[in-house]
Amino acid sequence: MTASVETLEVLRDRRIAVTWADGATSRYHFVWLRQQLFHPAIGRPDQGPEDGFRLPDDPETLAVARCAAENGQLFVAWANDGAETRHDLAWLRRNAYDRDRRLARKARPETWTGAEAAATPWLDWERTVQSEEALFELFVALRDRGMARLRGAPARDGEVARLARRLGVLRATDFGQISDIVSRPPESAGRYANIGAGGMRRLAPHTDEGWRYGAPGVGFHLSLEATPSGGGDSMLHDGFLAAARLRENDPDAFALLTRAPFRFAAERNPEERYIAYGRLIVTDQDGDLAGVRFSDRTLDVQQMDEGAVEPAYRALRAFAKELYEPDLVYRHKLRPGECHVFDNHRVLHARAAFDPAAGPRRIQQCAVDREEFHNTYRILAEKLGRADDAAMILPNGALG
Ligand SMILES: [Fe+2]
Repeated sequence: MTASVETLEVLRDRRIAVTWADGATSRYHFVWLRQQLFHPAIGRPDQGPEDGFRLPDDPETLAVARCAAENGQLFVAWANDGAETRHDLAWLRRNAYDRDRRLARKARPETWTGAEAAATPWLDWERTVQSEEALFELFVALRDRGMARLRGAPARDGEVARLARRLGVLRATDFGQISDIVSRPPESAGRYANIGAGGMRRLAPHTDEGWRYGAPGVGFHLSLEATPSGGGDSMLHDGFLAAARLRENDPDAFALLTRAPFRFAAERNPEERYIAYGRLIVTDQDGDLAGVRFSDRTLDVQQMDEGAVEPAYRALRAFAKELYEPDLVYRHKLRPGECHVFDNHRVLHARAAFDPAAGPRRIQQCAVDREEFHNTYRILAEKLGRADDAAMILPNGALG
């Protein structure tokens, strides 16, 4: 992408239009240019040690006396205060935010049905842990589909962390960084007794820990022990496909779920009473899906405006129906050494009932926060020379 300039034009709506040598045009608001220059983290050119805080510019007071492209920079002389600023042209081109450019940089999730997920490749565990190119394949799968599956892992304690740490630091929970999903007889279950994952009943599709303001970002489920009989299949559902269908089939319900937060809670014992409010479907400034939060087990006693109660439950039911549609279900019984990795802000996981008498079922899990994964993704994309991937705008997830 060239950063040499063909023409410059000062527009009446307080922007400078730069037409590049390849014919493309980028437009930069005066206030946007000035904000970069006077950014407090880099030190203002006009700042003395005793100066007070600088208010952001009032956009309407800004005026350009002169601008020019010179020495690889955009030079601007400001009429309003006499300041002169210089902006690197290559940097300007990279950060152009004209709508079409910004939208083109956004990650585009690929939604999937269960059958489509079942056709995705199994990635090799050891290769993914060892090779940066292979690791980036996993990153792209998580970015685009929100799920990936790997096999060939040694079925040993702690192994799941070898892969997870390639994405970022492990999230610490009150169960530690790595925990077992294993059924325990009720008399020895202790604090696991009230937690569905530790039982043997089937579990409806859910995202983990919706009762935290920021739920875990990327989840890892590595099978260490399984028996061929006895059930216990793992399932994944694409929350983005369900949300897209809801938007199509019941736009009012969709709109309500993107607006009104539900209350989630985990109340396991007197010492642990987590409560958080979160929207079930989160969209970004363009209306694109950014995240999903859903769990039938941790939905709490709702505290919402009385007029909103029935519409909210109607919308909840409509979304649940979409999520439970049979064609959404990707179903696979994890064998020892097989692992599902999923974006916990998009993809729901579920489990079929199982019979502990048929043999042990043990899955080891851990999680990495979303921003840790996205940071590692960007750094690795840059290192591999994948500038477009590195510059991609990634969704924030199911926050707020
Ligand atoms: Fe779970």
